[in-house]
Amino acid sequence: MDRLLDNPSVVQRIFDHIDHKTTDMGEECWREPVAHYRSPERLDLERALVLRRYPIPLCPSAALPEAGSYVAREAAGTPLLAVRGRDGVARVFRNACRHRGTQLAEGSGCAKAFVCRYHGWTYTLDGLLHHVPHEHGFPGLEKALLGLVPVEAVERGGLIFVTQEGPHAADAELDDRDPLIPPHAKLIESHEQETAANWKILVDSFLEGYHTRSTHRDTFYPVQYDNLNLVETFGRNHRITFPFRSIEKLRHVPPAERSIDGRVLTYVYHLFPNVAVITLPEHIRMLAFEPLTVDRTRVFGYTLSAPSRRHEGQGAVEFERASEFAEAGGKEDTAVSLAIQRGLASGANECFVFGRFEGALAHFHRSLQELIDGLS
Ligand code: FES
Ligand SMILES: [Fe+2]
Repeated sequence: MDRLLDNPSVVQRIFDHIDHKTTDMGEECWREPVAHYRSPERLDLERALVLRRYPIPLCPSAALPEAGSYVAREAAGTPLLAVRGRDGVARVFRNACRHRGTQLAEGSGCAKAFVCRYHGWTYTLDGLLHHVPHEHGFPGLEKALLGLVPVEAVERGGLIFVTQEGPHAADAELDDRDPLIPPHAKLIESHEQETAANWKILVDSFLEGYHTRSTHRDTFYPVQYDNLNLVETFGRNHRITFPFRSIEKLRHVPPAERSIDGRVLTYVYHLFPNVAVITLPEHIRMLAFEPLTVDRTRVFGYTLSAPSRRHEGQGAVEFERASEFAEAGGKEDTAVSLAIQRGLASGANECFVFGRFEGALAHFHRSLQELIDGLS
C-alpha cells in the first residue's frame, strides 16, 4: 500500500511548491460521464457493488464512548445499529427486531439493553435475544438463533468500519502508523442534514484546491493558497493537504523539529468511497455522505476535539472562531454543489473533465468504475 508522507516531508514539499509556484498534478485528464451523476441504475450499482461491499466508516469511535453507547443510521440504504458492548467491543447489527422487524433504535444515545417498543423483545448489548414477554406463546422458539443480525465491523484509526457483504476485507487500506482520529478524542457534536445534490458531487468538492480563490475568495483564500495542494493516494483513499500561509513560520525551524497541526495546514482524508475526515484548526470533522436518491444525500457530521485542545476560556473563543471559519467555507462548497446539481438538468455536458489539478477526483471515479466493472 502507498504510504503517506511524514510531517517533515509534507512541509518540505509545500515549501517547494510555494517557491516554484507549482502544485501536485495527476498524470492525465479524466472524463466522467454526466450520466453517472444522474442515473438511478448507476446509483443502484454503486450501492450494490461498492457501498455495501466495501468497508465504510460508519461513525467515529468517539461516538461510542462507553458500554451501551449506540449510533443508529442508514448506510447504503440499510438501517444499522452500532453499539459498544460491556467488553468494550464495538459491534454493528442490522437495526430490526427479529420478531416482526421493528427498528430498535433511532439516532444516538446510551442503553443498557435494546427493548423493542412493539412487544418488548429485549436484546443485550452484544445482540443476544435475552427476553421474550409471554414466551409460552412461542412454543419451540429458538432464542439462540434470534439474536440481532450482525454486520462485519472493525474499529481502526478512531473509526468504526462496516462491510455489509463480502468480499473486501474490513481492514483494507488504512495506514496504522498514525490513527486518523487521535485516541481519546471527544465527540463535541453530531448532526445530520439533507442536501439536494448527488453524493459524488459532495465528495468531489473536498478533493481539490483548484477552486480555492474562485469559491472561497473571502474565507479560505486570504489565509490559504490557490491551487497549491499535496495529493496523496493510499489504497483507494486520498489525503489532500491544504496549507495555510502561516506555514511560512516553519521555515525557520529545523526540518526534524517542524511539528504540524491544524493551524498550519488542513488535511482532508477521503476514505473511499463516501467519507471525509478533515483536520481543522481546533477540531476534527468526519462527514459521511449517504445517498438517498440520485439527487439527494443525507450528510452525517461529527465534530471531535483532539485531546490536547482546550475548549474553555480563550480556547473556547478560538474554537468558536475556527468553527465559524470552517462553516463559512463549507457553506460556499455546498452552494457550488447545489449549483452543479441544478446544472446537470441543462443537458450541456456529456462528460465532466477533471484536469491534472483534480487528480484525486480522477482516481476516485476510476476506482468506483473498476469496482462496478468487477476489475478489482
Ligand atoms: S416486533 Fe419487536 S417485539 Fe414484536
Ligand atoms: Fe472548497
